[in-house]
Amino acid sequence: MISFFKVKINIHSDNLQSAINKKTNNTSLSSKSLEKLVSIANTQYEFKNGEAEFIIRGTPCSTDVNYGKVSKLIKEIKIIKSFKDDSFINSRIHSWEVNAKELLKTNYNPDEEKQLLGKGSRGTVYKDGESILKKTKNLTLNEIFHEANMCNEYHIKIQSFKKPPTIVEKCIEMPFINGKTPNFKDTLIGVNDLFKNGFFMGDAKPSNFLKTPEGSVEPIDFGLVFKHDTLESIDHEVKKNIISDYLKGGFRYIPNEIKNEYHSCIVKLDDILGKDSPTRKINLKILSKAGL
Ligand SMILES: Nc1ncnc2c1ncn2[C@@H]1O[C@H](COP(=O)(O)OP(=O)(O)O)[C@@H](O)[C@H]1O
Ligand SMILES: [Mg+2]
Repeated sequence: MISFFKVKINIHSDNLQSAINKKTNNTSLSSKSLEKLVSIANTQYEFKNGEAEFIIRGTPCSTDVNYGKVSKLIKEIKIIKSFKDDSFINSRIHSWEVNAKELLKTNYNPDEEKQLLGKGSRGTVYKDGESILKKTKNLTLNEIFHEANMCNEYHIKIQSFKKPPTIVEKCIEMPFINGKTPNFKDTLIGVNDLFKNGFFMGDAKPSNFLKTPEGSVEPIDFGLVFKHDTLESIDHEVKKNIISDYLKGGFRYIPNEIKNEYHSCIVKLDDILGKDSPTRKINLKILSKAGL
């Protein structure tokens, strides 16, 4: 026997399916019922940014839509149905599915889905397939070009055949390197290998390298990488940052065998910069610690 008395949704004990079952015979949904359905969807799918309000009530929602959770709802909503095919609630469920799809199309922020690999002082790095996307922070276009160029030249030099770096607005797309942050000794090996290929690094430190499962130590941050034969043409800001990061601690990771070569590059850059060189503002104790 079909019962015609109204059954109330309980936001603490119902899920979306059991709440819908209670509304099979309804010819409309009160705003109280809609409110309860929103609350249940929020709990069930852990929505935090108004996704359920948009899907169920059509209320505008923020741009930080949870892609994974809305997709899950879309998948499950196909199974969630009332017993009666032509019921009012079934037509509502269909409109929720349409709304949820619309939400993914218009309010989805792709960065939410990309895996965060790490944050440095100059940018935030996300994984994007076989590439990484570095969203730079406070860098000039020249500094961004310098980084992408050095990454490109390095990969050409070692014949890695990886996709060349590209720049999109203030983001740099570069090859993804699989590996772990190296220890002190391995970082020295990374700096030495980089040198053998003709490159220097102003901010040498473990977090700017990765040790691959095959055992090689690969550079990943090309922001202050440079070549000694093109010192003059390096961007002004990059020159200054090479010197200041080297003095701040980069020098600690330079193997003894190549300290002289590094030293001579830093002195040359200091000469070129003249009164603009950061060495003019750094105290003597720090300069002598770095061997200058
Ligand atoms: N190509 C890459 N492959 C894998 N992880 C990366 C790559 N580039 C950067 N990362 C991760 O992101 C972190 C920050 O990147 P980094 O280029 O050093 O930024 P910043 O220039 O701000 O110092 C790194 O320490 C590393 O964990
Ligand atoms: Mg770095």
